[in-house]
Amino acid sequence: MAVKKLAISDFYEMKKEGRKITWITAYDYPIASFAQTSGMDMILVGDSLGMVVYGYNGTVSVTMDECIIHSKAVRRGAPDVFVVGDMPFGSYHISDGDAVANAVRFVKEANVDAIKLEGGERVATRIRAISDAGILVIGHIGLTPQSSAALGGFKAQGRTAESAEAVIADAIAVEKAGARLLLVEAIPPELAAAITKIVKIPVLGIGAGVDIDGQVMICGDILGYFQAFTPKFVKKYANVAEVIINAMKEYVADVRGAKFPGPEHTYSILPEESGRFNEMLKKYIK
Ligand code: KIV
Repeated sequence: MAVKKLAISDFYEMKKEGRKITWITAYDYPIASFAQTSGMDMILVGDSLGMVVYGYNGTVSVTMDECIIHSKAVRRGAPDVFVVGDMPFGSYHISDGDAVANAVRFVKEANVDAIKLEGGERVATRIRAISDAGILVIGHIGLTPQSSAALGGFKAQGRTAESAEAVIADAIAVEKAGARLLLVEAIPPELAAAITKIVKIPVLGIGAGVDIDGQVMICGDILGYFQAFTPKFVKKYANVAEVIINAMKEYVADVRGAKFPGPEHTYSILPEESGRFNEMLKKYIK
């Protein structure tokens, strides 16, 4: 079935009609192509690649160059899916100019459809500057992993009336600054549902309940191949790690037992060459 690539206007239509938006992270060609085949609406080349692909214990050491390389692979794997590049720590923290320059790199080098950056009111001028450059921006508020040290760890946000109001203020600031979609992470479902009503832009969530416009999940979590930790909000749809480990164990056993490769995995000497081949070998093996 041919896939129609969605545009930003489609997500507004989906919000209006109450149709949920589906979003997953991908960092490489194969997972991106599987996402496209599955009918996924959006792909995020998240800076979570630092943990899922590179084995770092957080996202802050991820670089722009790493994000670009992975975004290019994802774009090749999913040419017909709306792809979002994730601005890594340091790529928008210094100035509006820097933020625009790095967002432009995502579009020019990796052909992404939008960029995402973390923060609310404090990044409003960055969001404005990038949207003024004609690039679609997705805000990300609530738990923002790049500032987990300042937030006291990877902790749910907005659990008191006061901090919930701060999250609402961030949502309003992000929308006002020009963001076209909003991601809310690890906040109570009641708060996420309220934000979905307060702002006009589509609100997607991770760990934010079901009463919002769509969901995003990290591929390594739902497919079961990221094993370092599993947040409460993850549902595992497969155990790919188990499948891979079992396949590798079988391969190891086959090689050690000389059961692999079998004749069906080898190339034969051409029948008309077998006489000359045997003659030639006598020079080497007496
Ligand atoms: O980098 C990432 O994968 C994210 C998730 C929270 C979706 O931003």
